[in-house]
Amino acid sequence: MKALILSGGSGTRLRPLTYSQQKQLIPVANKPVLFYALEDVIEAGADEIGIILGPNKEQVIETVRSADWSVPIKFIYQGEPKGLAHTILVAEDFLDEDFVMYLGDNILRDGIVSHEKRFHSLGSSASVLLTPVDDPQRFGVADLNPDGSIRRLVEKPKVPPSNYALVGVYFFTPLIIEACKSIKPSWRNELEITDAIQWLIENGHKVDASFVEGWWKDTGKPEDIFEANRLILDDIDGRCDGEVEESRIMGRVVMEEGTRIRRSVVKGPCIIGRDSIISDSYIGPYTSIGIGCQICGTEVEDSIIMDESRIVNAGKVVESLIGRNVRIKECDSLPRGSRMIVGDNSDISL
Ligand code: TTP
Repeated sequence: MKALILSGGSGTRLRPLTYSQQKQLIPVANKPVLFYALEDVIEAGADEIGIILGPNKEQVIETVRSADWSVPIKFIYQGEPKGLAHTILVAEDFLDEDFVMYLGDNILRDGIVSHEKRFHSLGSSASVLLTPVDDPQRFGVADLNPDGSIRRLVEKPKVPPSNYALVGVYFFTPLIIEACKSIKPSWRNELEITDAIQWLIENGHKVDASFVEGWWKDTGKPEDIFEANRLILDDIDGRCDGEVEESRIMGRVVMEEGTRIRRSVVKGPCIIGRDSIISDSYIGPYTSIGIGCQICGTEVEDSIIMDESRIVNAGKVVESLIGRNVRIKECDSLPRGSRMIVGDNSDISL
C-alpha cells in the first residue's frame, strides 16, 4: 500500500500563522501536525509515501527531511489548491496501487492500523473513516445502507442523514483516479473528494465505512489546535532532561535536553522544548513551549509557544498560539502603553 498525505491548501482559517508557514507544520505538543500523519501511515504498513505540497513547499520538504523516516518519501507539488480530488489527479503517476489518503492537518488518537486491515479484508473499492459528532451540520456526513456501506455523502447538510462525520482519512484503489477525472468542479471551484466517492457508488462500486473509536481532530482552526494539544498532552509521560533550580515541578512535565527552570512553578501536563529557559514564571497545564524559548516573569497556561520566542514580564498568557521568534515584553520606557507591530489578520485580546 502507498500513502498520499496532503500538505497543501491555503489555511485561511489559521491566518496570520499561515502567511509564513504551512498549517501542517504547526506544532502540537512540540511535533508538527504532519508528523502524526506520517507516523500513522508508516505504522499501517505504507511502503512509499507521497506528500502533496502547496504554497510553502520548501518549508515542508525541509521539515520532513529533518527527521528519519523508514520508507521513501516523494514530494508532489500541487500548486494552486484546487480540491482534494485534484491532489489525486496531480499524483496520478504515483498512485498505481491501493493507497491511503490522509489529510495532513488531521490527528487520530489510535492511528489507522485497524482501518487498513478492514479495508483490505473487505476488498471494496474505497473505505472512508467516520466518527459520530454532535453537530453533523458542520461536516461532510454519511448516509449509510443497512449493511453499513455508504449510500451517499452530503457536505454540511441542513438535515443530516446521520451523525457520522467524515474523518480526513480515505482508503482507495486506483479506480478513484477515473472517478476524479469524471467529476466537475463544485460551486467553490474545487474538485471535491465527496463527489468522486459518490461517482464510485453511482457506478456500482462498493464504498465501505470504518468507524473511528478514539478521538479525532482536524486542526484547521486555532481552537482545534488547542484541543489537539490538550488531547496529546493528556497522554504524555513526564521526563526531565534539563536543570531545575529553586522550582516546583508538578504532574507530568516533559523537559527536553538543555532546558533550564529557575525560581518557577511548572504544572503538567506540559512540554518544554530543547534549550528553553523558564525563570520566575508559572507554566500551567496544557502548555507546549518550543525550542530555544525564554519565558521570564510570566504566567502561561493552555498555550502553544513556538521556537525561539521570548516572553518577558507579560502578565498572564492563556489560550494563546504564538508563532516563531515572537517578542512580547512589558513596556519599560515612556510613553507607556501597548506598542505593537502586528501582522495582518492577527488576533489580540488585552
Ligand atoms: P481544508 O482545511 O479544507 O482547506 P485549506 O487548507 O485551504 O484551509 P482553509 O479552509 O482554512 O483555507 O483542506 C483539508 C486538508 O487538505 C488540509 O490538510 C489541506 C489539504 N489540501 C490540499 O493539500 N490541497 C487542496 O487543494 C485542498 C483544498 C486541501
